[in-house]
Amino acid sequence: MTVGELPPDVRVERRVRPLGRRAGDRSWPPGRAALGCRIVDLPRVADCRGNLTFIEGSEHVPFDIERVYYLYDVPGGESRGGHAHRELEQLIIAAAGSFDVVVDDGTRRERFFLNRSYFGLYVPPMTWRELDDFSSGSVCLVLASRRYDEGDYYRDYDQFVAARAGEGTP
Ligand code: TYD
Repeated sequence: MTVGELPPDVRVERRVRPLGRRAGDRSWPPGRAALGCRIVDLPRVADCRGNLTFIEGSEHVPFDIERVYYLYDVPGGESRGGHAHRELEQLIIAAAGSFDVVVDDGTRRERFFLNRSYFGLYVPPMTWRELDDFSSGSVCLVLASRRYDEGDYYRDYDQFVAARAGEGTP
């Protein structure tokens, strides 16, 4: 499902615009999604006692879920992420509240606004991501395809871009 097909009352927005970056400065050609990132429409069991969403590995996400972590108590104005992964795949969900996820494939950059617990943003390997604009009380739930491995990270943006361009060591 693409963002353009979402119900009009749902505020999952795809905003394409040049953004400030942590590393360097470059203008970003707007208009195309960062490669491979997409909104996943998760199952919803509507119930007047409270709604329920479930996620099964390799069924609702394109990988076996090896790890789950979540960000919470994020102070206003703070940002998270600022890295890419060599192999890791992730599904990022606004389990509570809202926040933005900026994804970047080394040449293009796109901002997703997440504020529904039944949508996830799939982020493939080799995608730089930054999370910001967290609302008060928000919870960012992340499903991951692998266990934590610091060796899987690119934490330097220029190294990431070089690797994407095939100029560095992947
Ligand atoms: P990091 O992935 O950089 O956080 P974020 O991208 O959300 O801002 O991780 C922050 C710290 O937490 C880092 O020291 C590693 C540690 N950490 C783990 O030990 N296990 C995990 O599963 C994750 C995601 C992080």
